[in-house]
Amino acid sequence: MLPAFGKQNQFSKMYLFQRVSDLQTYLTTERVNNRSVGFVPTMGALHAGHLKLVKRSLAENQITVASIFVNPTQFNDASDLEKYPRTLGKDLEMLAGVGCDVVFLPQVATIYPTDLNTEVTIDFGGLDQVLEGAQRPGHFAGVAQVVNRLLNIVQPHYLYLGQKDYQQQLIIKRLIAVLQLPVKVVVVATERESDGLAMSSRNLLLDPELRPRSVLLQQTLEGAKNRLAAGEPVPEIEKWALEQLTQPDFNPEYFSIVNGENLLPPDPATLPDLVVACTAVWAGKVRLIDNLVLRGSL
Ligand code: PAF
Repeated sequence: MLPAFGKQNQFSKMYLFQRVSDLQTYLTTERVNNRSVGFVPTMGALHAGHLKLVKRSLAENQITVASIFVNPTQFNDASDLEKYPRTLGKDLEMLAGVGCDVVFLPQVATIYPTDLNTEVTIDFGGLDQVLEGAQRPGHFAGVAQVVNRLLNIVQPHYLYLGQKDYQQQLIIKRLIAVLQLPVKVVVVATERESDGLAMSSRNLLLDPELRPRSVLLQQTLEGAKNRLAAGEPVPEIEKWALEQLTQPDFNPEYFSIVNGENLLPPDPATLPDLVVACTAVWAGKVRLIDNLVLRGSL
């Protein structure tokens, strides 16, 4: 059941808005008073990684808005959308616990009114064709569509995104650049469990037996970093990594070492300043992604 909207809810200091007009009325007053607005878009099933983004926004802005919206257009697999964990009550408690100011909880019809074409058709310069884009056709079109909608509604000064979705943050930066949206992106380092597994809402779905073994992704990424530093050629490191990740119940979709700016294979003669390894691995029936900067910094 949804909590009461506005300020009269059980989270005494946190505003909950479902209607765009209510959210915008509130934010307009804040903006008129020169208060900077930070925005953390989420699909719920929150964990410490999301809270790290919220805390960063709270530290850098007067008002922090988080949204919870499981965006149907970015799921290319209907069963994935259905399985996606939904933990609204807990999410709101977590956001209130860190002092989030506002939570926007739109309905599908609000984001995608049937009489409006909200699709975004821009040239992503190939960023959407590789890695996740190659494995999940239409995924980034859906991400761009929802983020554009949310940015138009919230109109934040700063947008907070996690490094965990490395390709997504590049796609969103490109969206913002092409559409000239007046918002700055802040990318926050991946939050990890104590054993190194990148925090993800999908970790909740992991088979308990596979959960401890899933640290394999981070260990392989670290191994790749050491090998690159030791001068091993990129194709050999990728081959080694795919072998490491191929285990009973573990099945890698890709392990790619790329130029961190454009996601293209790095030039072996002169490695680019920013080199990133990105991977997607099936752990049983759960698809995990992770990445690591192997050279340079974000
Ligand atoms: O990273 C996510 O959780 C989603 O892709 C986002 C950015 C909230 C858009 O639905």
